[in-house]
Amino acid sequence: MRDGSGTAQVVLVKSEVDPDVWERFGGLTQESCIRLTGTVREDKRSPGGFEIAASNIEIAGSSPQDYPIQPKEHGVDFLLDHRHLWLRSSRQRAIAKVRHEIEQAIRDFFYERDFTLVDTPILTAAIGERSGLFATEYFDEGTAYLAQTGQLYGEAAAAAFGRIYCFGPTFRAEKSKTRRHLSEFWMIEPEVAFNDSEDNMRLQEEFVSYIVARAVERRRPELEELERDVSKLERVKAPFPRIDYGDAVKTLQAKGSNIVWGDDLGAEDESLLVADYDTPIFVCNYPKEAKAFYMKENPADPRTVLCNDCLAPEGYGEIIGGSQREDDYDKLLARIHEEKLPVEAYGWYLDLRKYGTFVHSGFGLGLERTVSWVCGLPHVRESIAFPRMMNRLRP
Ligand code: 4AD
Ligand code: MG
Repeated sequence: MRDGSGTAQVVLVKSEVDPDVWERFGGLTQESCIRLTGTVREDKRSPGGFEIAASNIEIAGSSPQDYPIQPKEHGVDFLLDHRHLWLRSSRQRAIAKVRHEIEQAIRDFFYERDFTLVDTPILTAAIGERSGLFATEYFDEGTAYLAQTGQLYGEAAAAAFGRIYCFGPTFRAEKSKTRRHLSEFWMIEPEVAFNDSEDNMRLQEEFVSYIVARAVERRRPELEELERDVSKLERVKAPFPRIDYGDAVKTLQAKGSNIVWGDDLGAEDESLLVADYDTPIFVCNYPKEAKAFYMKENPADPRTVLCNDCLAPEGYGEIIGGSQREDDYDKLLARIHEEKLPVEAYGWYLDLRKYGTFVHSGFGLGLERTVSWVCGLPHVRESIAFPRMMNRLRP
């Protein structure tokens, strides 16, 4: 019997129950919903060390014999088509519990540090990232896009409240069918006034260590259910190594990658790079052309920007993208032109640099990639209850 909090073995003894109870018990089918009365007793042989000796069973919701998910191997497409039922499995419960713990840890982390939660809009007019957009007609106001990021609004809020974060669904119309991409995913985006890129990385390593430690501390049974090697997670402690982009390219070339200076790191490059480490690592200061328009030019090497990606170990790849923001009005305007973005949509964003500009930094952590890594899942699709991918809009 399963009640959401866990499962228990239920035992009926024919001689101890009414014949009609015995008959109802015999007629139970997989996934019948029951109301059960009984006595809990200790029994070393039962899973969990306890079982329930039932005295009565009532059927609250019967279930026909053709329950689609049977105790045998099903293909993942079949399971995803039946995601509304698949969620009932113990593995899916374990993943949901770990995700829930991580979300709570995220909120606690920022609450304890006096960040203000600011909910940013999902319907937007300004484009935040380079990846694909979902567009819809918005009354007489033209095209609205589903937010790829809350960051630009987060920056306005940081100017008002100092340290803030937003945490909500974000959307990317990317035609990528990889094990890391969803078209709808949840992102946590803190933004901090007066933090530079170094402060930003310190916040990230403290944050990632905190949420991983919390999952290990409070969700060990679930991680064991998922057969996760928890000792690997226990090694995740700040500080994380910092690798300059230029050095990363040289290391990758030496390892046989055909990356050249200027390219963003591909998934294979990320795996090659993290293979030498057992904690997450930072790759810092990418070339301008590989990153978004809002990142601050690196004074030490203007071909690059003050930014970092945080790559998770065990081949999980980029879980965070972060940067110091361009706070110079003219430089930011020039980047908007260079990227051929519609300047009129960024008037308000430029205002943040016009009226009392300030050094500030922030980052975005992808929740599903983080949950996948912590749970040791082979694909992000199981890390969210109802995944949205290129070929999946139902259930
Ligand atoms: O690197 P990204 O695109 O950064 C931003 O959106 C910034 N505006 C964040 C900021 O500075 N406030 O995305 C951040 C993270 C990635 O590292 C990844 O974990 C996740 O979001 N992510 C995705 N997760 C699942 N599916 C996708 N299609 C994702 N795209 C990004
Ligand atoms: Mg990124």
